[in-house]
Amino acid sequence: MSLFISFEGGEGAGKTTQAAALADRLRQTGIEAVTVREPGGTAVGESIRRWVKGVGLAPETELLLFAAARAQLVAAVIRPSLDAGKVVIADRYADSTVAYQGFGRRLPLDLVSAVNQMATGGLMPALTVLLDQPAEAGLARVAKPQLGLPFDAPAQEGAPGRIDEADQTRFEREGIAFHRRVRSGFLKLAGQEPERILVVDATRPAQHIAELLWPRVQGLLGR
Ligand code: TYD
Repeated sequence: MSLFISFEGGEGAGKTTQAAALADRLRQTGIEAVTVREPGGTAVGESIRRWVKGVGLAPETELLLFAAARAQLVAAVIRPSLDAGKVVIADRYADSTVAYQGFGRRLPLDLVSAVNQMATGGLMPALTVLLDQPAEAGLARVAKPQLGLPFDAPAQEGAPGRIDEADQTRFEREGIAFHRRVRSGFLKLAGQEPERILVVDATRPAQHIAELLWPRVQGLLGR
């Protein structure tokens, strides 16, 4: 039985760990699970990933790049996998665009949702797990030594992000106020769609979170 699940949250919330743990558990029970990350998951998406991690993008460019990566991922991977009866687990999806480009960058929310609608064709997960924690906690978890550009490096138009992901991304370099807006954006979405979006305290141990999610996933799979 096909099922679409996404993990959402700010930086350092543990989405990747939870997505991988859930996929492993599903596979152990004989269920085919496909994990995808955003932006990425297709050749085009991985190229776009480099651009959005770079510097000097206008917010509108950023929005359209994330949307382009998503449109390709939906068409090439997510829909075909669901059609083949698999479980698809996405490490970020459309809610990230609302939270980061809408609330974080302050692009008009109606525009963001129109662009999302185009990119997804209306395909939304049956379950979205929002790994929520204070913005400070997430940033502390992703804090890395500054090996790359200094904070005040001039934005160079059209400079793609380096592939070296040990460097902090543009988003991780944003100030705390940006990340607080992102968090409150996610929480607003959760308030609007409580049936779809399950808010989980991301500061709890990863194992606890995985145990908490499993019955919900089993329920959706009709087990
Ligand atoms: P990534 O290294 O994947 O971060 P994380 O592990 O936190 O997912 O980088 C993706 C970055 O892109 C992350 O900072 C969030 C941001 N993002 C958006 O701003 N909008 C989007 O639509 C998506 C999917 C991601």
